[in-house]
Amino acid sequence: MPLNLRQVGPCFAAEASGIDITQPITPEQADEIHAAMNEYAVVVFREVDLTDETQMAFTLSLGPIEPPVTTNLRSKDQLRISKNFADVSNLDENNKPFERDDRRRLFGIGNRLWHSDSSFKVVPAKYSLLHARSVPSKGGDTEFADMRTAYEALDDETKTEIDGLICEHSQMYSRRLVGFSDFTAEEREKMRPVRQSLVRTHPDTGRKSLYLASHAGEIIGWPTPEAMLLLSDLTNHATQREFVYKHQWRKGDLVIWDNRRTMHRARPFPNHEPRDVRRTTLAGEGPTAEQESVVAAE
Ligand code: OGA
Ligand code: MN
Repeated sequence: MPLNLRQVGPCFAAEASGIDITQPITPEQADEIHAAMNEYAVVVFREVDLTDETQMAFTLSLGPIEPPVTTNLRSKDQLRISKNFADVSNLDENNKPFERDDRRRLFGIGNRLWHSDSSFKVVPAKYSLLHARSVPSKGGDTEFADMRTAYEALDDETKTEIDGLICEHSQMYSRRLVGFSDFTAEEREKMRPVRQSLVRTHPDTGRKSLYLASHAGEIIGWPTPEAMLLLSDLTNHATQREFVYKHQWRKGDLVIWDNRRTMHRARPFPNHEPRDVRRTTLAGEGPTAEQESVVAAE
């Protein structure tokens, strides 16, 4: 059975059916999924019974995974699931929701700011695949913004202004926006800013997108306040309702998004209720900008 797609967002995002992703898929089926991703950027498989093993097997059939993130504040002995997954849940190693003021929770809810996964890494992520094992009784939606349509809707003057600009991204910049700044020297070192192009061209479709995230805190050669204001104007533009798809989770949903062409953010939910969502992440193809050679530590 071929992949069936039904558009669910305003200008992107589709629900898919017709391929059983709990079973090994063929290279032809993987190609169909990549083609769907190139067209819709967000592809949703509803209510699929995946385990860690089958989620990882499906992920690997679409490409190599990104090396795990080391800055999520969960130490090695506090991991709830395999280190090859991003644990995006609100649960500690005993499957209990974090206390409201737990540092791991406060760092994690930085996800509620618009972002693109791993934009703080030299090689940022390609796709993210997020699977819901349990969902709260209300809230906890994920919103996605179509950065290609948002780019295309900019006026020519703005397109010219931003052409060629390079930003610096760091998890420190996004956490600073929500008042979280008590990082150790070691954490700061891990979160050293990296460079990303503000406009990127999709390698498969050749179409341009804005490449923004709350992790972006500087524009090379610009005064910081002016950079932050432009980034904030562009983010406000790109996240208007007409460019946004809101995913309301059901248990078992798998949502795949292309980080090169979308931003996303989590929405709040009752913090004492478990929300077990687990992410596998595909590696990107390369840097989006030349990196500055590392300057001596200050
Ligand atoms: C992520 C993420 C949002 C959410 O998995 O990268 O940002 O709603 N998730 O959990
Ligand atoms: Mn994310």
